[in-house]
Amino acid sequence: MKAVVLCGGEGTRLRPFTYTQAKHLLPVAGKPVVEHALAAVREAGIAEVGIVVGPGVERPFRDRLGDGSHLGLRLEYILQPEPKGLAHAVLCAERFVGDDPFLVYLGDNLLQEGVTGVVDVFCSRNPAAVVSLRRVEDPRRFGVAVIEGGRLVRLVEKPNDPPSDLAIVGAYAFTPLVFQAAREVRPSFRGELELTDCLQWLVDHGHPVLPHEIRGWWQDVGRPEDLLLANRLLLSQIEPRVEGEVDAGSTVEGPVVIEGGARVLGSRLIGPVVIGKEAVVERSTVGPSAAIGPGALVRDATVVDSIVMEGARVAGGGLERSVLGRSVAVMGGGAKVSGAFLGDGSALGLEEGR
Ligand code: TTP
Repeated sequence: MKAVVLCGGEGTRLRPFTYTQAKHLLPVAGKPVVEHALAAVREAGIAEVGIVVGPGVERPFRDRLGDGSHLGLRLEYILQPEPKGLAHAVLCAERFVGDDPFLVYLGDNLLQEGVTGVVDVFCSRNPAAVVSLRRVEDPRRFGVAVIEGGRLVRLVEKPNDPPSDLAIVGAYAFTPLVFQAAREVRPSFRGELELTDCLQWLVDHGHPVLPHEIRGWWQDVGRPEDLLLANRLLLSQIEPRVEGEVDAGSTVEGPVVIEGGARVLGSRLIGPVVIGKEAVVERSTVGPSAAIGPGALVRDATVVDSIVMEGARVAGGGLERSVLGRSVAVMGGGAKVSGAFLGDGSALGLEEGR
């Protein structure tokens, strides 16, 4: 079985971060979103992965992920020339997939239980497709599935009056029959080729589509606040590891990852926390739920429930529920910054006492 991980799209809701970085390369809990997805694919026993990317971003993906060998994967990059929908992205992968069955995983979806379950259902029952579903409180903002006799019979996109509470999650398994479906369906009202329409096409043409209900958490990274939600969830399951330096004047509580070359000086870390390579934390309190990127600097500051990306600096103040892009500078002046989403290269200076 192969996997196709969808990393196209424009990521408009994640601006300002997506003005300068692809959504799937944004870091959550110390790693790009897509690396968490790829780890789940590997965990499900799949090694051959096609990553569908939009124009102009193959280079940064390659720079970060290469040929995937360090992740135990063989990666191929597939261009989707325009973001014309999920089914269009899948069609772009047709040559890569060939005659094999394949997993389709939206590269911005994070699942606590990974994608092993959907692959297992597909391999043991040989249907035309398997769709992951999760019960949600308010199904109106999701694609919703109706199940009868253990099979999927109907799908509705964002219904006002949901026929069930089963939302469609971004992990599917297909036979190559889905390519025929994707060629036959017409673009939706938003001008995109929809995967839900392909699934409905399969059902309507008598092909079995099976549900796989997941029960663990499911978080897709669509908006800036989702970065923080995903960061919290993923940090809550980190394996502690200390490769950097923690001096005698520092204390560490709870699970903490300190990457090689990082230095923690006269500080308090309250896990879960990740401190990236070569980062410096000095006379500060970091955590819980904080991810400090490679080469970042936190000095005389408190950072809680935040993502501080590569090369960013926080000095003299507090930061909470915030995301700082690459090389952002926050000069706190003793003030607390809360709920800030600052794109790459921004600077924020606060006057003392305000
Ligand atoms: P979406 O979040 O629906 O779309 P988007 O990433 O363009 O974001 P926004 O709405 O903020 O502009 O996409 C879901 C996933 O599918 C995501 O991993 C990107 C991927 N995708 C493609 O690969 N190709 C596409 O044409 C589209 C629309 C999405």
